[in-house]
Amino acid sequence: MTGTGNQAGRLLPPRHIAIIMDGNGRWAAKRGLPRTAGHKAGAENFRKIATYCKNIGVKYLTVYAFSTENWKRSETEVAAIMALLKRYLLEAVDTMERDHIRLHFFGDMTPVSPELQALARETDEITEHLSPDDFQANVCLNYGGRDEIVRAARQFAEDCAAGKRRPGELDEAVFSSYLDSAGIPDPELIIRPSGELRLSNFLLWQSAYAEFYYTDTLWPDFGEAELDKAIAAYHSRDRRFGGVK
Ligand code: IPE
Ligand code: IPE
Ligand code: MG
Repeated sequence: MTGTGNQAGRLLPPRHIAIIMDGNGRWAAKRGLPRTAGHKAGAENFRKIATYCKNIGVKYLTVYAFSTENWKRSETEVAAIMALLKRYLLEAVDTMERDHIRLHFFGDMTPVSPELQALARETDEITEHLSPDDFQANVCLNYGGRDEIVRAARQFAEDCAAGKRRPGELDEAVFSSYLDSAGIPDPELIIRPSGELRLSNFLLWQSAYAEFYYTDTLWPDFGEAELDKAIAAYHSRDRRFGGVK
């Protein structure tokens, strides 16, 4: 696909970019720092990249912050990640309205601390008052693609049992409306830093026709120039969606 230049002569970015924010631990190890220092640097980089995405006209940025599998890590590491999320949410509550940043969560919040759940509800309420045209960041927290699909299937089954739905109604559009990403277009581009070539349970349904971009750069080092490179790579892809050109 070929891109169209915007006023800055830059290629128009995809509407929805998703990022697996990986490599924080290795970034810290390389510097002789504890893994938690890597998560702090990663969180700071998320702020930077989200602002950049907003400025260049990306509509949705979905980031993988904590997977359903990440509970396997040490208690100290999990607590440090949750503390960083809390700090980010506290800051977001104060600034998202001013900066026109909508915030939404993907994932099962039930095992997350009541404090974080309350903050997520608060940011959801602020998001409701913002314009649907404003930039939106989706943070995947206790998120797993398989878990999301199972939760959607369970809810649909419950709606059938309650007489609100009929099994024959189920098609891709109806199923999508039960996912955490309901109403949000699929990501055109999925980026994974840190050199791992896998999805690790990220956006299994939504990635059906996404373009993938992998780089060895570790997430805390993944800057604006790297994002530009990923967008340029995206524009060089021939997206056929199963058809013939
Ligand atoms: C990503 O960085 C952050 C989370 C998974 C929470 P990692 O912590 O996985 O960093 P590496 O892969 O060990 O370098
Ligand atoms: C994926 O990274 C999850 C997040 C970035 C939040 P992991 O580091 O957990 O994935 P694996 O273990 O390398 O597959
Ligand atoms: Mg990792």
